[in-house]
Amino acid sequence: MRENNMKIEFDALSENESFARLAIAGFMASSDPTLEELEDVKTAVSEAVTNAIIHGYVGKEGKVILSGNLKEHCLTVIIQDFGVGITDVEQARKPMFTTREDLERSGMGFTFMEAFMDELHIESKVNQGTTITMSKRLRG
Ligand SMILES: Nc1ncnc2c1ncn2[C@@H]1O[C@H](COP(=O)(O)OP(=O)(O)O)[C@@H](O)[C@H]1O
Ligand SMILES: [Mg+2]
Repeated sequence: MRENNMKIEFDALSENESFARLAIAGFMASSDPTLEELEDVKTAVSEAVTNAIIHGYVGKEGKVILSGNLKEHCLTVIIQDFGVGITDVEQARKPMFTTREDLERSGMGFTFMEAFMDELHIESKVNQGTTITMSKRLRG
């Protein structure tokens, strides 16, 4: 299989969470993923996109970039925002840690991303934004 790349930019609106899920599912289709692999990736991507919208931009206007790379049955997904950033990444990764208890968040987003993907990398700069890089080997 040849290497394949995609990159899309969309507005930080909650209705684009399902768009991002569908977009990544469509991109993966060529590598014949199992239903479980599809669900895992869709869940991880929607957690990261939701975070960009509600935490990164705190409901304000902004752009989210979703990119994908498929190479030798390994999928890499990058979700990028240019929002407030994360002050303490190690703390943010911890299960049940949330800065938005007011929104009844579960604080499990990063835990899910870690569980459903093989690798999770978080890069963030305060007031510059956050880039989430995740990869998963597709066994199909
Ligand atoms: N893109 C982001 N921009 C700014 N802060 C973020 C971003 N993603 C996550 N965070 C921070 O990390 C915390 C943990 O995220 P997560 O595990 O998804 O839990 P939850 O979304 O339920 O709060 C969030 O409460 C928030 O403080
Ligand atoms: Mg979250």
